[in-house]
Amino acid sequence: AANLPSVTLEEVAKHNSLQTGVWVIYQNTVYDVTNFVDSHPGGEKILLAAGKDVEPFWDLYAVHKSPHVLSILAEYAIARL
Ligand code: HEM
Repeated sequence: AANLPSVTLEEVAKHNSLQTGVWVIYQNTVYDVTNFVDSHPGGEKILLAAGKDVEPFWDLYAVHKSPHVLSILAEYAIARL
């Protein structure tokens, strides 16, 4: 993770749909989860966080606060803020 490129919040915000790619931020790391959307157990709700920080959503859906979810996320890391 140390040698991931840096991107801006503005750049992340542009990736807010399946057309542009679905990027999310979690603890200052950026993830491209476009290819995970179809396998998300919570369906298209994941798109609510597209281009944004996922943590406010995960505060509402606490099922995500597990090592299993973080290990999925880790596969999709592309950049850092
Ligand atoms: C469930 C991953 C974003 C809503 C889950 C589960 C995983 C997952 C692995 C199953 C957890 C379990 O049952 O142990 C992710 C990842 C996300 C993400 C990697 C972001 C990159 C979101 C967002 C929302 C959301 C932003 C809501 C706005 C839900 C809901 C469930 C769920 C409602 C429960 C589905 C059910 O059991 O019926 N998610 N999620 N998720 N997720 Fe997400």
